[in-house]
Amino acid sequence: MDQLFLTLLMLLNVHGILSANQPNIIFVIADDMGWHDVGFHGSDMLTPNIDKLAYDGVILNNYYVSPICSPTRSAIMTGRHPIHTGMQHKVIRSDTPYGLPLNFTIMPQYLKLLGYDTHAVGKWHLGHFQKEYLPTLRGFDSFFGYLTGHEDYFDHVAEGRPYWGKDFRNNTDPVATMDGDYSTELYTSLAENIILTHNQSKPLFLYLAYQAVHAGNAQADPLQAPQKYIDRFPNITDIPRRIFGGMVSALDDGIGNLRSVLEKTGMMNNTVLVFTTDNGGPTNGYDRNAACNWPLRGCKNTMWEGGVRGNGFVHSPLLRKTGYIMENLMHITDWLPTIYSLAGGNASDLPNQDGYDVWNMLSNDGQPIRTSVLHNIDPIQNFAAIRVGEYKLVMGDISNGRDDSWYPPPDLKKKHHKLTFNDKHLNNFEGDKFTYRMSSEKTAKPITVNCGKRPVDADTNCLPNSKPCLFHIPSDPCEFTNIASQHPDIVAELNQKIEDYKKTMVPPGNKPADPKGANPYNHGGFWGPWM
Ligand SMILES: *[C@@H]1O[C@H](CO)[C@@H](O)[C@H](O)[C@H]1NC(C)=O
Ligand SMILES: *[C@@H]1O[C@H](CO)[C@@H](O)[C@H](O)[C@H]1NC(C)=O
Ligand SMILES: *[C@@H]1O[C@H](CO)[C@@H](O)[C@H](O)[C@H]1NC(C)=O
Ligand SMILES: *[C@@H]1O[C@H](CO)[C@@H](O)[C@H](O)[C@H]1NC(C)=O
Ligand SMILES: *[C@@H]1O[C@H](CO)[C@@H](O)[C@H](O)[C@H]1NC(C)=O
Ligand SMILES: *[C@@H]1O[C@H](CO)[C@@H](O)[C@H](O)[C@H]1NC(C)=O
Repeated sequence: MDQLFLTLLMLLNVHGILSANQPNIIFVIADDMGWHDVGFHGSDMLTPNIDKLAYDGVILNNYYVSPICSPTRSAIMTGRHPIHTGMQHKVIRSDTPYGLPLNFTIMPQYLKLLGYDTHAVGKWHLGHFQKEYLPTLRGFDSFFGYLTGHEDYFDHVAEGRPYWGKDFRNNTDPVATMDGDYSTELYTSLAENIILTHNQSKPLFLYLAYQAVHAGNAQADPLQAPQKYIDRFPNITDIPRRIFGGMVSALDDGIGNLRSVLEKTGMMNNTVLVFTTDNGGPTNGYDRNAACNWPLRGCKNTMWEGGVRGNGFVHSPLLRKTGYIMENLMHITDWLPTIYSLAGGNASDLPNQDGYDVWNMLSNDGQPIRTSVLHNIDPIQNFAAIRVGEYKLVMGDISNGRDDSWYPPPDLKKKHHKLTFNDKHLNNFEGDKFTYRMSSEKTAKPITVNCGKRPVDADTNCLPNSKPCLFHIPSDPCEFTNIASQHPDIVAELNQKIEDYKKTMVPPGNKPADPKGANPYNHGGFWGPWM
């Protein structure tokens, strides 16, 4: 089915039927950046460049991603929910022989057919056990970056279990040199170079998947940034959070440079720049990182809002209306049809999409397009969550209670301990208009999440491993109050939706690990194809 469709497309393109005004698409992904890690959410981080682009664009305020990396990236690439590609369970480990199945046509392949130059920089993490899974064999003209989930920011060595190896490639070739280049700066300069040398007779698709702000190797040196960035946060007393600030700040500088070069080349006026995180921030010790999703509940790898409500914005002179906050629901699968249609395609030609073309909604502050978002169904770990209209159903618990709480930025926590507040009271600022800020440099007021009052039983009124929980997200975005027992009808309705989705789900594609085969020692010291 995909094949026939692609052939038709190619014919259209050969005959020059597609429009000449195709915009450049710059798709930027931050890794593991939490809700409270961007200035436009009132963070203790400084992100003036990100904030400016966001405030001058459209900020996505009810925007959902998957709670972990490979699923989100697979959804960007295919426009299909991870339950429909077998990517719904965990991430691809460095020694595990599977990937995003090759029979799915992915974003760069579609854009290539529409005449785009396609380049990927940074993280892949969609499979690497066979060469066919690498980016340049799946529609990208070029790729420079790494294939697995994380690594050292400077020497580009990644820990796997039990082996370590370098993970750094130019197209498909291992790169042994360039030790010592901080990846955030390196990826920015490679992206700048792609833009500067781009022949503007063709539109550009640049997929810039930063390593920032994922932890490096958790068993070695998880938080890494050049000192000059760390020095920008003298007022953060918590050392991990201060270094994390440096990591965020390097990313923010990178985005600023990207903007300058798009303006310098005259490309900006015909560019759509998307910024998204791949999932909520790891906190509470996860990966030994120091991200923050405050005041949202939970973190990366949970079904709570802190795991799935993403940072995102779109910036483009092609938007008819800008400088506003989009409150309608949007999901990570919406990018493919939206971008495909911007690129001159007809989104309704895309086979089996789970996403929607939301460009008119974004461009005009238009009416809602989607009414629901499936957060996930994991048939192995046995959890699921769905949002339908204003309600969210959470069933099962990925972390068995470990990551179900609320995790304030460390300095705020310390400050309130001094004032003899206990943890519970941290969420109990009247109406939680959360305005803790380190800087007065913000160009506009940060967006606040109004949690409402925290009930005393917030920690215990929802135990999703034993019974499904229901939350009314608009009035309770911080998931303080489980209202399942008051609304059995809504619980039943949302549960039925999950059952309906289960009928269309494909089994998870995970395979048993093959550490012997993948062992970098047998492959020149590199993680990479071994089958
Ligand atoms: C790809 O293969 C899988 C597994 O055989 C199947 O479930 C899926 O529908 C296929 N996708 C396409 C686009 O053909
Ligand atoms: C990647 O390899 C290509 C082809 O060999 C080369 O032209 C290019 O400069 C390399 N890129 C980097 C960043 O080293
Ligand atoms: C850009 O591409 C066009 C069309 O292929 C070609 O005619 C032109 O010479 C190229 N420009 C540069 C600067 O390479
Ligand atoms: C963008 O700017 C360039 C140079 O300033 C100009 O040639 C081009 O027509 C502009 N494109 C759009 C879509 O406004
Ligand atoms: C897109 O395709 C649909 C279904 O084939 C068709 O109804 C619609 O008119 C097309 N839209 C455009 C803009 O061509
Ligand atoms: C740190 O705090 C001091 C004292 O409140 C303030 O003057 C200074 O601007 C702050 N520095 C930064 C980088 O926020």
